[in-house]
Amino acid sequence: MKKNIFLVTGSAGFIGYHLSNFLLKKNFYVLGIDNINNYYSVDIKKTRINNLKKFKKFSFIKLDISNNKKLFFSLEKFKNRIRCVFHLAAQAGVRYSIERPDKYISSNLNGFFNIINYTKSNNIPYFFYASSSSVYGDNTGKLSLSKRTSKPLSLYAATKKANEVMAHSYSEMFGLKTIGLRFFTVYGPLGRPDMSIFKFTKSLILNKPIELYNNGNHSRDFTFVDDAVSLIYNIYKNRNKLKNANIFNISNGNKVQITYVLKLLKQFLKIDKILISKLPLQPGDINTTLSDTAYTNKFTKIYKRTSINVGLKKFIKWYKEYYSV
Ligand SMILES: NC(=O)c1ccc[n+]([C@@H]2O[C@H](COP(=O)([O-])OP(=O)(O)OC[C@H]3O[C@@H](n4cnc5c(N)ncnc54)[C@H](O)[C@@H]3O)[C@@H](O)[C@H]2O)c1
Repeated sequence: MKKNIFLVTGSAGFIGYHLSNFLLKKNFYVLGIDNINNYYSVDIKKTRINNLKKFKKFSFIKLDISNNKKLFFSLEKFKNRIRCVFHLAAQAGVRYSIERPDKYISSNLNGFFNIINYTKSNNIPYFFYASSSSVYGDNTGKLSLSKRTSKPLSLYAATKKANEVMAHSYSEMFGLKTIGLRFFTVYGPLGRPDMSIFKFTKSLILNKPIELYNNGNHSRDFTFVDDAVSLIYNIYKNRNKLKNANIFNISNGNKVQITYVLKLLKQFLKIDKILISKLPLQPGDINTTLSDTAYTNKFTKIYKRTSINVGLKKFIKWYKEYYSV
């Protein structure tokens, strides 16, 4: 049987949705898995899945990946047809790992193990998985792959580092090609309501105070979601160049201060005054993230990224249409 399906876990999630959409537009078969949990708006997850269901080549299974028996049973039908796994399902968010550490263990450790083990057991040659810039902990300066990642500042980061180490062992033991994607603050249309750009936009439109940590003096390497998807797809296209265990920064390569994001949002939304509710930097939060893009750029031959101005405008356009404001 022809191996022609891309398995995307977390396909009702932000990045999983965009990646699935991209692959479907290229006329590939995509099998999506997601438990559509209520960590944030279930409506937005359902919208994403409904959009994907418009493509004939999309199949979807609602499933909790921490349930190994159900996972293997549900995937039986697709046996020997999956060519590559993109494992993006996880409990995301740094702050929530203080409140609900158990979610991170079941989805990010048990769930991760089930998916990588499924990949290996079914002789699927490529296992892409979501890591995070948070593995860099309190490193400063440009975050390159050679920086230490053994001192995570949150349980979320610890699970992501654990994923990288588990993936490495599967590459060593079984020759599985594993590709870890260290995402840096990805944003864009149909984005996550728990992330800063979404929350700021919502508060500004509703004329409510913005919850501003650290006076907005921290910076992020904001990555537009289309850039993240192109990079992932290009790594896949160049799969012959991959080593056994691989890690890539998936990022923009510029740091943008939160105060600057607010300034742009204020300008683009044509708002006179921003109301602010000040909060201290939260435990586990990192002051600045700035990636080194050299390795990823050289591998993918993609050097250009979407600027924060263009990305924010695209996000606002989607937000206004989606919420009819
Ligand atoms: N968006 C970012 O800026 C960012 C940054 C660093 C890392 N990441 C990682 O990238 C991946 C995708 O992130 P995202 O922003 O799309 O997050 P997301 O929360 O929108 O997507 C994750 C999806 O996984 C699903 N999921 C969670 N636990 C599950 C389980 N046990 N079984 C089945 N489905 C489950 C959720 O319902 C959700 O739809 C995640 O692994 C995240 O940790 C994202």
